[in-house]
Amino acid sequence: MKVIVAKTAGFCFGVKRAVDKVYEKVNNSDGHKKIYTYGPIIHNEEVVKDLESRGVHVIYTKEELAQLKDAIVIIRSHGVSRDIYELLESINAEIVDATCPFVKKIHRIVKEESEKGRTIIIVGNKKHPEVEGIMGWSVSDTYVIETIEQAEQLSLPENTDICIVSQTTFNYSKFNNIVAKIEEKNYNNNIMNTICNATHERQAEAKAVAAQVDVMLVIGGRNSSNTQKLFEICKYECNHTYYIQTVDDIDDSWFENCDVIGITAGASTPNNIIEEVKANVRIKF
Ligand code: F3S
Repeated sequence: MKVIVAKTAGFCFGVKRAVDKVYEKVNNSDGHKKIYTYGPIIHNEEVVKDLESRGVHVIYTKEELAQLKDAIVIIRSHGVSRDIYELLESINAEIVDATCPFVKKIHRIVKEESEKGRTIIIVGNKKHPEVEGIMGWSVSDTYVIETIEQAEQLSLPENTDICIVSQTTFNYSKFNNIVAKIEEKNYNNNIMNTICNATHERQAEAKAVAAQVDVMLVIGGRNSSNTQKLFEICKYECNHTYYIQTVDDIDDSWFENCDVIGITAGASTPNNIIEEVKANVRIKF
């Protein structure tokens, strides 16, 4: 039996970097300062629980942040707005900045372009922490647009200088459609496609692997929307595609008359879970 594990399965570069930074900090800490992450470092309960057991606490609000004393605060890959940095400085927190460099780049663009007086348009979901963070770097008028209808409704004076950026995980064709709609209006556009390739690459590879295997396993949390999407893509290519959270969900009957197994995983699936599934499948068959 052959097992093919997608190279892009699991954490993207930015999330891996952020999780590594937290463990690095825990391992090098002398215990004098408490360690916090502002929001869960990833959407994976096991990892968050493991960190909690090592003394890393999650805080969710600005109010909680403001109360901290002798704290080390880790900023996750989504990044935060400028006022959070100011707040952390005001309480003398040690900042570990794990903002993904691709998100940092958007902060820089938004800061510079808004300082030049351009109106900022962020294509993304207003409630997503990454978008909230990006908004917090603009010093000019800022709009968040998620749908074609919202793009249609955008009404600015003619010849307004605008700069368009996107949430890193936004759908590429949806972004293009929204931009095309805005381009129909008479603004001076500066368009920056800041979508990150990690999601697209993971999906493209999952599709390619699923197309050449008898059974495909997709690993990820039940509520993970990117894992759900991976599952749909793989199922389209390979009818025997199964969604699992851990090795315990594997049913041996899936592998009858099977020569090649493919494995991929959603963006919040730690490497050890992928390895465990891979080892389990190899040992059994
Ligand atoms: Fe990941 Fe950074 Fe892209 S967090 S999805 S590599 S923007």
